[in-house]
Amino acid sequence: QRTNGVIVAIDGPSGAGKSSITKLLAKRLGYLHIDTGAMFRAVALMSQRAGIACDDDARLAELCRGIEIEFEREGEAYRVLVNGEDVSREIRTEEVGLLTSCISARKPVREALLQMQRKMGVKGGVILEGRDIGTVVFPDAEVKFFLTASAEERGRRRYLELVARGEAVSLEETIEKVVCRDRQDESREHAPLKRAEDAVPVDSTAMTIDEVLAFMEKTVKERVAA
Ligand code: DC
Repeated sequence: QRTNGVIVAIDGPSGAGKSSITKLLAKRLGYLHIDTGAMFRAVALMSQRAGIACDDDARLAELCRGIEIEFEREGEAYRVLVNGEDVSREIRTEEVGLLTSCISARKPVREALLQMQRKMGVKGGVILEGRDIGTVVFPDAEVKFFLTASAEERGRRRYLELVARGEAVSLEETIEKVVCRDRQDESREHAPLKRAEDAVPVDSTAMTIDEVLAFMEKTVKERVAA
């Protein structure tokens, strides 16, 4: 069934470096990068536009049925398209991020995206990043990582990102939001953030991106060879 290669799952809390690392690792391995957080963000953005309350499961289910999400890569640019519209920037605001934490806890949303993610990844040759890839979406993934870093370090990285983008935020407030989002993601009923038993833990607090990347690439190649 895996005609294109193996499935690599990278899970972990926000700010651990998942996105940057997955992007680079996908490039090195020549694999397709599927950012599942971006998919939940896209649904959150569309629900916001449609004025749907975060707990209105019936309307959320209907919204998901009418949504098509695609990833498009053009050179270095990596875009998220919803029904053909490029929403890459719009889904990255703090506001959409917080809304996403709520939306992604809703059962109909998780079910709809689960089907989409399995369809996108089933042939292998993919790296999926998210919260529940190794536990729920592809429990049979050949390689699983659980990438973490301390909350302070993740908050600091997020803060630098936001400042670089011109958003007026404080470091303290950014760390608080990271802790708050962790709590929501870990305590929700459906597919909470949790390390799969067979996932390789990677703590990036004191590691550079290059170090994390080198370790992961080596691990994937060893598993593929075995
Ligand atoms: O990785 P991110 O920050 O873009 O994720 C945004 C939100 O989506 C985050 O609150 C957790 C949620 N999410 C999820 O519930 N399951 C996933 N597989 C990916 C993200």
